[in-house]
Amino acid sequence: MGSGIAETAAVNGFDVVLRSRSQSTADATLATMEKSLNRQVEKGKKTEAERDEALARVTVTTALTDLKDVDLVIESVVEDLEVKKELFNELDRSTAEHTILATNTSTLPVIELAMQTGRPDKVCGVHFFNPAQVMELVEVAKPLTVADETVAAVRAFAEACGKTPVEVKDQAGFIVNALLFPYLNNAVRLYEQGVASVADIDTAMKGGCGFPMGPFALLDLVGLDTSLAILDALYQEFRDPNYAAVPLLRRMVAAEQLGRKSGQGFLDYRT
Ligand SMILES: NC(=O)c1ccc[n+]([C@@H]2O[C@H](COP(=O)([O-])OP(=O)(O)OC[C@H]3O[C@@H](n4cnc5c(N)ncnc54)[C@H](O)[C@@H]3O)[C@@H](O)[C@H]2O)c1
Repeated sequence: MGSGIAETAAVNGFDVVLRSRSQSTADATLATMEKSLNRQVEKGKKTEAERDEALARVTVTTALTDLKDVDLVIESVVEDLEVKKELFNELDRSTAEHTILATNTSTLPVIELAMQTGRPDKVCGVHFFNPAQVMELVEVAKPLTVADETVAAVRAFAEACGKTPVEVKDQAGFIVNALLFPYLNNAVRLYEQGVASVADIDTAMKGGCGFPMGPFALLDLVGLDTSLAILDALYQEFRDPNYAAVPLLRRMVAAEQLGRKSGQGFLDYRT
């Protein structure tokens, strides 16, 4: 998600500082962005000059202190509350007082991240969808402490990136994942019960509901580990059985069958 968000901002004229923990992951993220932009040039959706201008706006770093002059930070690390809390604590110390600290979390409580900082009025959720450079929606999640000016600034940023923002309470799953994940989870249940094959369930939901992709192709795109983390966070918040991850999903994550990113999930991407 990090590379897609960075690409979106750079393509829309924003200077981007892309920070990763190590130089190798920073370089890999930049390479992903370059590949994506090259694909768009090949398809005639962008000119070579537009690609080069976007890439020239991006600098990569491993130092959090290089974020000291930015107006907006979008955190998009692994969906783990403790990791994100520690990072927000560090971000509070390494950025200017006016900097807005936003999180791309799918389900975690934004308020817990806000309270790690001395500026809870400047912390909110900015939830992009996958792939961020293509999907139109951005959910702006509002913890109890956020100021109206922060929400307005984040909405304006999303609009400047060509996105459509919606505002939502800081509640697990926001709008889209609260509605989407019971469906995805139940698709895994249907498959686990032997009701139909992965391919036939995907075909059914595309052909019968007009969805652009079936539930298993979508789970593989999101990543099964991220999907499991989302379901666990939803279950933790609501204790609704619809959010209780189907055992097969947990077993596949344990087997490191994570979807596209590992080469195998419900579908096989290794050939
Ligand atoms: N996958 C999706 O479809 C999707 C969609 C919307 C939002 N999100 C959210 O975006 C965030 C990232 O998800 P993803 O799917 O890109 O995950 P991912 O597992 O593909 O990538 C997470 C990255 O975070 C890095 N990381 C872990 N700990 C870190 C730390 N302390 N500091 C810096 N980097 C660290 C990892 O090395 C990895 O590169 C999550 O909060 C997720 O919920 C994901």
